[in-house]
Amino acid sequence: MLKLKSNLVLLGLFLMATSIFGQDVFISNTENRNFTSLNGKWKFVLDPFQTGGMGGMPVYKNYQPKDKSDRVEYGFDNGKNLWVPGSWNIQYPELTYFEGNVWYRKTFDKPDKTEGKRYFVHIGAANYKTTVSFNGEILGHHEGGFTPFSFEITDLLKEKDNFLIIGVDNARAADNIPSKVSDWFNHGGITRDVKLIEVPSTFINNYFLSLDKSTLNQKNKTLKGKLELTGGNRPKTARILIPELKLNQEFDVSIDGTTEFSINTKGLELWSPKNPKLYEVTLVAGKDTISDQIGFRTIEAIGKQLVLNGEPIFLKGICLHDENPLRKDRANSIEDAQLLLGWAQELGCNFLRLAHYPHQEKIVRLADKLGILLWEELPLYWGIQWDNPEVLEKAKKQYAEMINRDYNRASTIIWSIANETASIPDRNAFLGDLADYIRTMDDTRLLSAAIKKDQELDGHPDSVYTYNDPLIEKLDIISLNEYLGWYGGAPEETRGKSFEFGFEKPVIVSEFGGGALQGYYADKQSRWSEEFQEHLYKESLAMFDKIDGLSGMAPWILVDFMSPLRQLPDVQDGWNRKGLISEKGQKKKAFFVLQDYYKKK
Ligand code: GCU
Repeated sequence: MLKLKSNLVLLGLFLMATSIFGQDVFISNTENRNFTSLNGKWKFVLDPFQTGGMGGMPVYKNYQPKDKSDRVEYGFDNGKNLWVPGSWNIQYPELTYFEGNVWYRKTFDKPDKTEGKRYFVHIGAANYKTTVSFNGEILGHHEGGFTPFSFEITDLLKEKDNFLIIGVDNARAADNIPSKVSDWFNHGGITRDVKLIEVPSTFINNYFLSLDKSTLNQKNKTLKGKLELTGGNRPKTARILIPELKLNQEFDVSIDGTTEFSINTKGLELWSPKNPKLYEVTLVAGKDTISDQIGFRTIEAIGKQLVLNGEPIFLKGICLHDENPLRKDRANSIEDAQLLLGWAQELGCNFLRLAHYPHQEKIVRLADKLGILLWEELPLYWGIQWDNPEVLEKAKKQYAEMINRDYNRASTIIWSIANETASIPDRNAFLGDLADYIRTMDDTRLLSAAIKKDQELDGHPDSVYTYNDPLIEKLDIISLNEYLGWYGGAPEETRGKSFEFGFEKPVIVSEFGGGALQGYYADKQSRWSEEFQEHLYKESLAMFDKIDGLSGMAPWILVDFMSPLRQLPDVQDGWNRKGLISEKGQKKKAFFVLQDYYKKK
């Protein structure tokens, strides 16, 4: 059955990720497009006082002294290099704690045969505020350290010596997302791949495809699709091909280039951790063809249960930062993803909480292949300016970018909208609005937020911990962070505790844990020893296991990670030590406690 409907709301949502905040068009699935990698060594100019974009000789103009008397007070040619992708903080000792602006320059010649083609510079992520310029022209700006963006350069391309200059500023600010204080390292720079993307003049810049959950129990299930075309003289029709399902169907494209369609399938195999089935899907429109590997599944919260493809599921999870501790750098490669997911699989996990911001796309796609379920979030973390409407707009924009990037990933089942934020009216209004917005963009996934109990205080003496945060009303899952035994009370105090929830919803323990220095062995009362952490895990797991409606957990955290907040000499030295694995990849005793627990689950 073919169905066509142009959807103004759809147009609105696709557009939200673009025009208002700078990038020209949202281009998804860049890995499967024609592109030239611009990764590698880039020249850079340091701009500590963020003045480089000002004055008569802004850095992005790439001025060279015209003659011996000419005065230019910056330069790339004889300057140093920075590797892209990569955090600048680890590339030079003097940049370890550098927070400010850095201008990167990459030069390249025009690709061959550019007739009828368009060219976009695509950046996987750059932390935090980015100015993109090309051949001396500012193309636009982007805010947010963990989501992708693109700018078109087609009309500015020269035959030779094109210069792409990108200013990246990782200075922390109160109206940023996250705001000034977070418990992770503020890696600055162009932290993910940079691509020169080549597309036809009219191309498929984005598409959504998912299983219509109302057809889950039908023999012939239906797929729902949305497609967005960019460029003039759009084709009247487009085509979808899924060879394994013998599916090759045409559908009409609306004049505004955004189209919804639905397709009946026969013999569709569902994606799940046990069977991470991905289908090769190809979309064709005019001269453009884009292929992807997509899995189809449903995820629901029914009563106090999480239900995947109609079956209850328990999420055996762990939290993770997007960092390769062995390289002290942001994770940015498939090897980094394989290392981190490999450890999680050793632990017996079928679920990961990607904390506290969108991780690299490669780990999400690898989770699709390995059958690992994902929780993704935006760093609406601790003290956000909830009463600032611009911050809400930024949150919506960054969320739209994350959803546009990962909508087609079966592994991603939960969008989380906040972490440990106090229940005050401005926050509740902000997050309520954001939750509604996300649901208009994606009705196939569950919403959550990591909250604290009503009593807030870790180690609170109450024997019954209660959860009545009004935000839960807007969410599908109750997710709680609890550090009894670490930030308050002793591990043994877990024994007398129980939990009461003001809502009938599945419960996930989204954080618990304690620190240990790998290799420090002592009695279980000695904080920072492996035995203390081991003991805390045993006690905490027994406490949480009693929760009625417990549908999953993600202890804090898989591996030690860099944090400027952690400065205890000879123990932390700039690392948060709550990992079950050390920054050198060595497992701590608690690793095996959780591994055991998941074996029995
Ligand atoms: C918090 C927070 C984490 C932090 C952790 C910790 O709950 O969400 O970002 O790292 O606890 O204190 O180690």
